[in-house]
Amino acid sequence: MKTLYLPSEDPKTPETAAEIIKNGGLVALPTETVYGLGANGLDEVAVSHIFEAKGRPQDNPLILHVAKPQEIEKFCHDIPKAAYDLAEAFWPGPLTIVLPARDIVPKRTTGGLSTVAVRCPDNAVTREIIARAGVPIAAPSANLSGKPSTTTAQHVLHDHDGRIDAVVDGGPCRVGVESTIVDLTDGRPRLLRPGGISPEQLISILGDLVIDKAVTAQIDKDAVVKAPGMKYRHYAPAEPVVIVAGSREKAAAYIHRHFIPGDRVLCFEEELPLYADCAPLAYGKESDVETLSAGLFAALRELDDPAIHQVYARCPVGGGVAYAVQNRLKKAAAFHIVDSEVEE
Ligand code: TXA
Ligand code: MG
Repeated sequence: MKTLYLPSEDPKTPETAAEIIKNGGLVALPTETVYGLGANGLDEVAVSHIFEAKGRPQDNPLILHVAKPQEIEKFCHDIPKAAYDLAEAFWPGPLTIVLPARDIVPKRTTGGLSTVAVRCPDNAVTREIIARAGVPIAAPSANLSGKPSTTTAQHVLHDHDGRIDAVVDGGPCRVGVESTIVDLTDGRPRLLRPGGISPEQLISILGDLVIDKAVTAQIDKDAVVKAPGMKYRHYAPAEPVVIVAGSREKAAAYIHRHFIPGDRVLCFEEELPLYADCAPLAYGKESDVETLSAGLFAALRELDDPAIHQVYARCPVGGGVAYAVQNRLKKAAAFHIVDSEVEE
């Protein structure tokens, strides 16, 4: 199959992409978070092709993307006021809300769950494609399962050229990490995945938030978890990653003590001079955490090379979007962290 390349500024793109979706095809779509691999979320066969293309486990449910917030009423029932409050505050935007699913949503899409994750993305062309298709678009991140997410159309083509119908190129994603997921189906609101909307922002609307244990620790692959996706190895390049915590100086001293040829260092731009002889790759500025979230996955993809022996990574501290960057890096490192202030 030839994968059509559709620039988002081409006025014909929304119609072409929407036709493919209506006909049961797969289209990779830009969003403000990451590129998604989209299909008609109400068509079980189309959805099954997403799982095949990604090599994704069948029990890992998909997010339904809508063009307008009020459309969630067609796919969800018993929607609490909190969901409307969140939608009002953060949609279109990098927030996904888990709600009870109506029967119209196929079990293929929900991974067999009675709930469904919904999101209104902050990308005008993608919302136009959804509106023209007339169906919600189910879309996981467009990476091959287990690999770092796709934040450019080139990443998508690297993973899927010739295997999907089309990719819409909307340029690099602004946020760069996937949406925040909050579950409103189970008593207290629960954070299942941190993202562009911070826990502080959620609490400002909800007044309360439980942080799911899958956010803060490695989850056993056989465990029963709220977000099935959280238990799989994620975002990971081919080689082991270790996060080196501590001050700039202590971390550099630790890395220089342990570095051997074949290793790489993933650091902040400000730290590049410290690692001149350690094959450094910067993913953004420590002083501007949004550049770190925007650059993280492109850097992890560049480091996805079996010839690399080990990656030493530097991780930002603090809340806001830094919290999401910490989460993705910790997952890439399988929660392997050394504290250079205390360890030799
Ligand atoms: O930013 C994003 O959310 C991107 C863009 C394309 O919108 N999408 C994305 O999808 O990251 P994916 O499939 O890579 O991650 C979705 C996560 C998975 O961890 C999945 O287990 C969880 O959402 N999820 C989906 N439906 C759920 C549900 N009903 N209950 C709990 N977790 C759910
Ligand atoms: Mg994903």
